[in-house]
Amino acid sequence: MISNDSPTITVAPEVQPVGAPERRRERADPCTMIIFGASGDLARRKLTPALYHLAVANLLDEGFAVLGVAREAMTDEQYRELMRAELEKSDGFKSLDERAWHWLASRMWYASADFVDPATFPAIGEKLAAVDGPRDGAANHLFYLAIPPSVFPPTVKNLASSGLLRRTASASDRPWSRIVVEKPFGRSLETALELNALLLDRVGEHQVYRIDHYLGKEAVQNILVFRFANSIFEPLWNRQYISHVQITAAESVGVETRGKYYEEAGVVRDMFQNHLLQLLALAAMEPPIAIEADAVRDEKVKVLRSLRPLVENGEAAAVRAQYVAAKARNDGMIGYRSEQGVAADSVTPTFAAIRIAIDNWRWKGVPFFLRSGKRLKQRKSEIVVQFKSPPHMIFGAADGTRVPPGRLTMRVQPREGIALRFQVKTPGTVHELTPGFETTPVEMDFCYQEAFAEAPNPAYETLLLDTMLGDATLFTRSDEVEMAWRVMDPLIELWSNGAPRDVPVYEAGSWGPREADELITKEFPGAKWL
Ligand code: NDP
Ligand code: BG6
Repeated sequence: MISNDSPTITVAPEVQPVGAPERRRERADPCTMIIFGASGDLARRKLTPALYHLAVANLLDEGFAVLGVAREAMTDEQYRELMRAELEKSDGFKSLDERAWHWLASRMWYASADFVDPATFPAIGEKLAAVDGPRDGAANHLFYLAIPPSVFPPTVKNLASSGLLRRTASASDRPWSRIVVEKPFGRSLETALELNALLLDRVGEHQVYRIDHYLGKEAVQNILVFRFANSIFEPLWNRQYISHVQITAAESVGVETRGKYYEEAGVVRDMFQNHLLQLLALAAMEPPIAIEADAVRDEKVKVLRSLRPLVENGEAAAVRAQYVAAKARNDGMIGYRSEQGVAADSVTPTFAAIRIAIDNWRWKGVPFFLRSGKRLKQRKSEIVVQFKSPPHMIFGAADGTRVPPGRLTMRVQPREGIALRFQVKTPGTVHELTPGFETTPVEMDFCYQEAFAEAPNPAYETLLLDTMLGDATLFTRSDEVEMAWRVMDPLIELWSNGAPRDVPVYEAGSWGPREADELITKEFPGAKWL
């Protein structure tokens, strides 16, 4: 149930649990996955657990192997032990399937190398040949760049010049050679253009998988199904019925061990340029002609091209801030500037809230408010569509106040699902201000886990399998990434000119700075972030 200030009745979902549906999931092609950045946070917390779960589900081929690479010196056995320990700490982990782990661990290898140094690549090549074994020369290779964005360009250059990453003429060529590039793809439009040019100079577009793991989330893909497989909401999905839209990606964690990376990135590059703009594009796009990669990407790019510039006349309807330790609470949460790897006078924003206008036929005059931050009160990612009030309100609410308008919430996480809030007649009561009818908001709530009796697949499982199958539908195209930088660059530029004292702060564990609330209330008095 979504909490709100009005009295709320939760309506039980009408869908009965239907059990785990038969999933059409093909088995991966045989391949060696080379993880660059194998000791990092992403590899430990997301990639290895995803591979393990694919192994449990018997979706990896007998000919699958992993070669982890990073600077740190480790033996193969130490690497396996480290990954097992990380797996056992990972989100939602219950108990180890020894058979599946043994199967995977016996295929895991490690090499130490510095990716900016071309001299270390022959050693990676030798180890890879040993891992490929009898398939050497005929093995499919999946190069996964789980490294800081500043290391992408030298790694791509060295991979290509060492001959490890080979150009193939078409997607059907065998053995295949693919490269997965993590986000943020570059750190500005200019560097993204350079990185795209570099990649396409060395390999074909069909070999490049630009990953945005939000697109692998079941609830994010469901935005398309909900909008375009039902005719109920689409007629209302426009400026005539919608007042505004809120998109939140809030995290309760801080920057953890990733201070150094985060200092390079900041919240706008880390979350807005990719995840939040993807959510906005999916919520706002026109129906594609088919659910196939290019048709969907074409419509998303059209939305990004319709966004009004975020900075006009040197000003932006946007708020940024950095978390500080909460003075009143002694909860052990330190401020951002005290995190490991963070400069004592850092001006890197860890929170932002932005008002975005879409200048097109459907959305003109309907603002989209986006916010994201670390160390916020609660972890939640969702899209809230706030409908308009009826043109002439003839009812009052039970407390005698204005009847709040309906809203639809698409929960990306946690409790993936959809909730619709609307007004009903409060049974039996008569209020002196509105004799006869009082209204109460109630909610109809669909939750994936309850309806399907199992949790949705974690994004990285879906996306890793797709890369091994050669399905690029859930990956971003170069023009999409570039357009997203065109949107965000001016704001990053505007904020990068601030002196340290200019960065507003918010208390760790709060919902961010007061100014973020004002962004909404000055346009919609009485409304708030939901
Ligand atoms: P970390 O800083 O935790 O890990 C970086 C990894 O890269 C480490 O293994 C590090 O190992 C290695 N590395 C860095 N420089 C070099 C180098 N010159 N030569 C060899 N190895 C190097 O970062 P994350 O894992 O958090 O992030 C990696 C990428 O994944 C980023 O682009 C991030 O945006 C993206 N991402 C991360 C997510 C997450 O949840 N962590 C989620 C989504 C995307 P060593 O220092 O030992 O060499
Ligand atoms: C990553 C960011 O892309 O997404 C991280 O680099 C962030 O900073 C993460 O924590 C959030 O992903 P999720 O799936 O937990 O919402």
